[in-house]
Amino acid sequence: MATLLHIDSSVFPASASASRAVAETFRKAWEEQHPEGTVIYRDLAANPVPHLTADAHTAGFADPAAHTPGQAAAFAGRLELIEEFERADALLIGAPMYNFTIPSTLKAWLDNVALMGRTAGENPSAKGTPVTVIASRGGSYAPGTPREGYEYVQNYLRAVLVDFLGLDLDFIVPELTMAAQNPAMAELIPLFESSRERAHQDAAIRAKSLAERLAA
Ligand SMILES: Cc1cc2nc3c(=O)[nH]c(=O)nc-3n(C[C@H](O)[C@H](O)[C@H](O)COP(=O)(O)O)c2cc1C
Repeated sequence: MATLLHIDSSVFPASASASRAVAETFRKAWEEQHPEGTVIYRDLAANPVPHLTADAHTAGFADPAAHTPGQAAAFAGRLELIEEFERADALLIGAPMYNFTIPSTLKAWLDNVALMGRTAGENPSAKGTPVTVIASRGGSYAPGTPREGYEYVQNYLRAVLVDFLGLDLDFIVPELTMAAQNPAMAELIPLFESSRERAHQDAAIRAKSLAERLAA
């Protein structure tokens, strides 16, 4: 039975969050396909993981037998996150755009999980694991738009998730989510609505096909 690691990082509840709502659609389709499967859930807004400390970082490169008490304590927390990440057959990550990049809570999770020589580098331990990222954003940063050069969510996550952790990455991008609230964006409402609809459809299709593939 496959295990899904589902991570949310929006500061808003599902009723007001595009990434949480689309992730929920994914997860429902996954669970329908996989009623016996396991879902590990982390809400990084409700329960942030600690930022990396010098002890947590240096412990990753030292012999565990030689860890100081500070390193041992810090590394235990990191190992819990790493083992959870390695246990997953698939990952689902809600990554809203905040100030052009990912929420700091998600960055803190990545800093804990990315360990050179284990999860990251030459032969990463979760190599090939599929990861679906719901990259919600208030505006549009699609190729050809005026803000294209300010896009540090997909560009950054591609670098860390694919090039560093070796995962098999797929993005779903509900965009222009601010259109309904910002009068200056009123004419973009139809584009926002079609983006939202497509994101939910893609999430359901992707979850179903992944669950079928992993159960086979
Ligand atoms: C602190 C903060 C910063 C934001 N910065 C940006 C931004 O730089 N660009 C953008 O397009 N939208 C920005 N937004 C809008 C969010 O990307 C948008 O509300 C999106 O839907 C967030 O995902 P969520 O609905 O899952 O919370 C920001 C929102 C917040 C709360």
